[in-house]
Amino acid sequence: MTDTLIPIRWCDDDSLELLDQRWLPSRREMLRIDTAEAATEAITTMVVRGAPAIGITAAYGVVLAAQRSSGPEWSATIDVAMAQLAASRPTAINLCWALERMKAVVTAHRHAVAPPVEALLETARAIQRQDLADCLAMGELGANLLARQSPRAVMTHCNTGALATGGHGTALGVIRSAWARGLITRVHANETRPWLQGARLTAWELAEDCIPVTLAVDSAASLLMARGEIGWLIVGADRITANGDVANKIGTLALAVQARHFGVKVMVVAPTSTFDLSLARGEDIPIETRAPRELTHQGERAVAPADIDIYNPVFDVTPAGLIDAIVCERGVIETPDHAGISQLLGSGSS
Ligand code: MRU
Repeated sequence: MTDTLIPIRWCDDDSLELLDQRWLPSRREMLRIDTAEAATEAITTMVVRGAPAIGITAAYGVVLAAQRSSGPEWSATIDVAMAQLAASRPTAINLCWALERMKAVVTAHRHAVAPPVEALLETARAIQRQDLADCLAMGELGANLLARQSPRAVMTHCNTGALATGGHGTALGVIRSAWARGLITRVHANETRPWLQGARLTAWELAEDCIPVTLAVDSAASLLMARGEIGWLIVGADRITANGDVANKIGTLALAVQARHFGVKVMVVAPTSTFDLSLARGEDIPIETRAPRELTHQGERAVAPADIDIYNPVFDVTPAGLIDAIVCERGVIETPDHAGISQLLGSGSS
């Protein structure tokens, strides 16, 4: 184990506690959740965000649903909660992956007179523990790639740290592990418009760990790359298709194009729960769009004219051809393609 920040906690009074990411870094508040509906709402409103963290929260949401289900219809009540949780955010496949694991427990107990609360809780805890273990494994594998060159600065986008996972982080986990091994000199964090995950969360996590971080607007990335200041672009993923295309936070595609132009290597870090081998290519991934207000307002202040059309997709898809390596807990896929992915994951995994 590690002393990583744990933003998702199951409490002794059988409720769920989430570090409310909407207020970081100015306020560090825990939000108590005791219904599946509240868990769904917490995911939708970004109290908790980041692909693996969403999956973990959904798993505990199923436990909360089971606690409140009784009588012969208990499994139907849980099914409704699972459908609501599944619809809470459409792009991150970890959500459906975690719910499938919970569903398997429900199915195995379908003839029981009461919901299998303890078995569901143990499964949710196992998903959370496994994600932390996966992040620690990916951290070392990714750091090994960085060890091939002398220490350089790296760039990251969005937040992929302990806040977004079971702990340590995916891309930020590689950065943490690499920093501990003296393999990087500095982290350039993009602010990540419009929700500012990079400014509010990544810069905060790195500062808490005393890892040198420089924050810049997203559009400064190409200048930094052109000046030769970046060794690797290291990002997470919300869904990876069978051919190695990667959905991640909006702006990742532009960064990958710039990186290729300026000779910066691109590393994607994600556990196997982020792979969706049922989809052949990135165009098949549903892309979430969020409220216009994320663009039109800063807090209460309007920063755009009222009543104009707004386009706010929050993910984009980077083609496999722009990616140098995908790191997952089972190993590293260099120059990812269909063959490399099925070799590492096996055609049945998702
Ligand atoms: O909209 P968010 O904040 O949930 O988006 C998160 C990302 O895009 C992350 O890069 C991705 O989930 C990987 S997190 C380990």
